[in-house]
Amino acid sequence: MANTRTPLIAGNWKMNLSLAEATALASAVKDAAAKYTDRDVLLYPTFLQLTRVAEIVKGSRVLLGAQNCSAEKEGAFTGEIAAAQIKDAGAGYILIGHSERRHILKESDAFLKTKIDRVLDEGLMAMLCVGETLDERESGRAETVVLNQLNAALSHLTKDAWKHIAIAYEPVWAIGTGKNATPEDAQAMHAAIRKRIALLNADAAPTTRILYGGSVKPDNVAALMAKEDIDGALVGGASLKAESFSELIKLAK
Ligand code: PGA
Repeated sequence: MANTRTPLIAGNWKMNLSLAEATALASAVKDAAAKYTDRDVLLYPTFLQLTRVAEIVKGSRVLLGAQNCSAEKEGAFTGEIAAAQIKDAGAGYILIGHSERRHILKESDAFLKTKIDRVLDEGLMAMLCVGETLDERESGRAETVVLNQLNAALSHLTKDAWKHIAIAYEPVWAIGTGKNATPEDAQAMHAAIRKRIALLNADAAPTTRILYGGSVKPDNVAALMAKEDIDGALVGGASLKAESFSELIKLAK
């Protein structure tokens, strides 16, 4: 049976682009997204560019998100940014637990669980990133690792909270390397994730969007998204150029 999940193509700009470049790219993405009503497009600029990009995409189908948020609500946390401030800036999504934050910045599962709660406190959407390292995959532990990450961040949620959750499966070895998971391997992991969601909240399993990320490009996106449980893509490198991201939007169905 065909699922009812709207495809979602998300661009994670990471720590790239000047304000002028971000502005031009956001305008181009807005134009590319305007051609379709059957798919969603989401941009994750840096914090400093959020308000500017929010002004550009206002009134369009393009959704806006932040790449991270503080685990704290407010107060004396120099250099941090609260979920409430992100909401203020006009964003509806926050990316939580991207592999670069888990591995480079050593963010733990427990810390990420707290961040999920901060996002939900504000009524925003949390997109939780999960994914195994190459070593974990080669030693046959990929599924265990991914499902443990999922449980650690989300198993405490109430049924209602699940309406505010999306998942991005991003194998660490595929991010920025040009090596993507095969559609079959990605589908197997997405199916395992959906099965685990069903155990946590049966109602959420058919509706929660699970995106694949890791070297998604115009030449591999269609085969990945043709799989039953792959509902979209979280794109790094190929989201930084209007041409390749527009092509991804076109192919994302
Ligand atoms: P990539 O990054 O598309 O450059 O591999 C994906 C991501 O880190 O979200």
